[in-house]
Order: sequence, then structure tokens, then C-alpha cells
Amino acid sequence: MSLDIHADISLKPFNTFGVDVRARLFAEAHSDADVHEALAYAAEHRLEVLVIGGGSNLLLTRNVDALVLRMASRGVRIVREDCDMAIVEAEAGEPWHPFVQDMLARGLSGLENLSLIPGTVGAAPMQNIGAYGVELKDVFHSLTALDRETGEQREFDLAACAFGYRDSLFKHQPGRWLVLRVRFRLSYPARLNLDYGPVRQRLQEQGVTEPTPMHVSRAICAIRSEKLPDPAVLGNAGSFFKNPLVSAELAARIGEAHPGLVAYPQADGQVKLAAGWLIEQAGWRGYRDGDAGVHALQSLVLVNYGRATGRDLLNLAERIQTDVHARFGVTLEMEPNLY
Ligand code: EPU
Repeated sequence: MSLDIHADISLKPFNTFGVDVRARLFAEAHSDADVHEALAYAAEHRLEVLVIGGGSNLLLTRNVDALVLRMASRGVRIVREDCDMAIVEAEAGEPWHPFVQDMLARGLSGLENLSLIPGTVGAAPMQNIGAYGVELKDVFHSLTALDRETGEQREFDLAACAFGYRDSLFKHQPGRWLVLRVRFRLSYPARLNLDYGPVRQRLQEQGVTEPTPMHVSRAICAIRSEKLPDPAVLGNAGSFFKNPLVSAELAARIGEAHPGLVAYPQADGQVKLAAGWLIEQAGWRGYRDGDAGVHALQSLVLVNYGRATGRDLLNLAERIQTDVHARFGVTLEMEPNLY
């Protein structure tokens, strides 16, 4: 027995919104054996299990009458490499940004655009994390997950994960798959993605003419730090809504009425709109009601000024959704998982 199970624990330190709800039971899994022990305990006591990573994509709206299992397994290893590339395996509990930095320090490129994203390695595939022109799927090799329905481990390759924009198979089968470890395909020669205008601009401002992956990482850290609140200072879960995909007709209609519309045409003919822009235009930027608010520098980010409850934040999100829909005819989908 290596698993410590604690009763009646505040989850405030375990979700980046800093929402203060309580878990009936709480444990940290440092190994596969811990995971199996926790699931067996829960089955025996007829308890639900809520698996969390960094709690950075989670809105807790009530006390959790379940066993909360925080994935805390650590370990990074190169499983295969040649002169050009390496397949690197990381345990689910590895904190994401330190892992990115570790890869950069080893001269491996591919993760630099995903610098400073909160959360853990194991949570990254759930919503196919992405930033500045790169998504997890672009560097993904495979993962090992536990099927909680059968108790068996399964390997997933890229195709099996069905990754989409902030989307994966795992998101569509909530509670079924528990990611144990993830493998990444990284490159020794730098393969930079500088498609994002603000990144190129930042490098130029810094006088960097021949950027390395480390330069790109630093530029992205600087951009993120300016726009996105640090959860250690101001509770938040990053973007609260996904950027909506709409028909070209609807995008054109909105664009006629609002010439500043930020829109990205997609290969399939649909258009992705900047949800932050829509929310700002609707007048919500910097809005605050009690301790729940809309970040003043990025309207896509909801913030907890201290004592907001998950309900307060959810109510605010719903008000924004209703208003944006009434003004633009656009439905905003929430990004974080709700409990
Ligand atoms: N914008 C506004 N007002 C705002 C916010 C944004 O006008 O209040 C405009 C910006 O000026 C820009 C456009 O909207 O023209 C896009 O803004 P930004 O570059 O900040 O990116 P985003 O679309 O709001 C997405 C991701 C972020 C990711 C950034 C950079 C989603 C839901 N969010 O945000 O991911 O870091 O692009 O790639 O796709 C996250 O998922 O938690 C997250 C932070």
C-alpha cells in the first residue's frame, strides 16, 4: 500500500482558477501501481473518481463527492533517437512547461511554441493543447492510456487520438481514458514555426535575425506573460471559450457590420473567429461582478479575483455566451471541463 488517501481536502491549490471546493477524498498517483490502487479502492467503496492533472482546464462548480486522483507521476526518457530526431516519453504528471524547457535544453525542437502553457503532460492530449501555430498533434508520437472500463492499457497512435482543434477522442469519452504517459517526436535540427505574426514581430524587436528554438520559446513566454494572467497571481484557466468556427456567410455578414472582425478562413471553407474580439466588442473586456471577471488584457480569459465560486464564473460565462449570441449569432463553446 503506497497510496495516501486524504479525506475532506480543499481543492483550491489544485485548480488554477483557485476555486475553493472540497473533495470527499484526495490522492496523488506517482506510479501506475498507485493508479490501480486508487481505482480499486474507489470500486470497492463505490466512489466516483475525478482524475486531474494541473487543474488548469477545469471549472469546479460544487464540492466533489468523489475520489480526486491527481496524476503526479514523473519521469522523462528518450526511447529512440537518431541524428535527426528523438522519441521522448514523459509520464503524465510531468509539469508541462518545465518539460518543454528540458527538451529545449537537450537541443530538441518542436515544443517551443507551446512554452508556458500551464498543466501537465498527461492532460495535454485531452484537449490537444495549442498555441502560436502549433498543436500537440504536430509533435505527438503516441500515448499509453488506461481504459477505466476494462482495466486494460491501450496504446494510441496519432490517428487513434482523433485530434482536432482543442479536441480529441478522450474528450468525447469523458472519464473513460486515463493517460499514463505520452511520447513526442522531436527534432534535433530546428524546425521552427514562425507563422504567427506577433512571434515574428517580437523576435524582430529583440534583434534576433537567426532564431533558435530557445529564442522562439523566450519570445512566446514574453508574449504570453504580457497578455495572459499568471494563475499563481490571478486565478484563471486560460482561454475560457474556443474560437468558434462559423460558415463563410455568417462571417461575411458579421464583417459587414463590424469591419474590424478578426477572422481566419479554414481549409474546409468555414471561418474561425477570434472569440476574444467578439467578447471585447460586446463590451465585456475588464468587466467584474464580485470576484468573477473578464481579464482586462484578454477578453477570452475569465478570472477569479479571490473568492469567486465556480458557479459565479459559470454564471458570468453564460451571460457572455447569451450576449455574444444575441449580438453576432455566434455560439461560444466553453473550453474547460466542468464539474
Ligand atoms: N482579441 C481582441 N480582444 C481580446 C482578445 C483578443 O480583439 O480581448 C483579438 C486579438 O487582437 C487577435 C485575436 O483576437 O487579433 C486573437 O487573439 P490572441 O492572439 O490573443 O489569441 P486567441 O485566439 O485569443 C488562442 C488560443 C490561446 C493561444 C493563443 C495563441 C484558443 C481558445 N485560444 O487565443 O490558447 O495561447 O491563441 O496561439 O484557441 C488556451 O487555450 O487556454 C489558450 C491560452
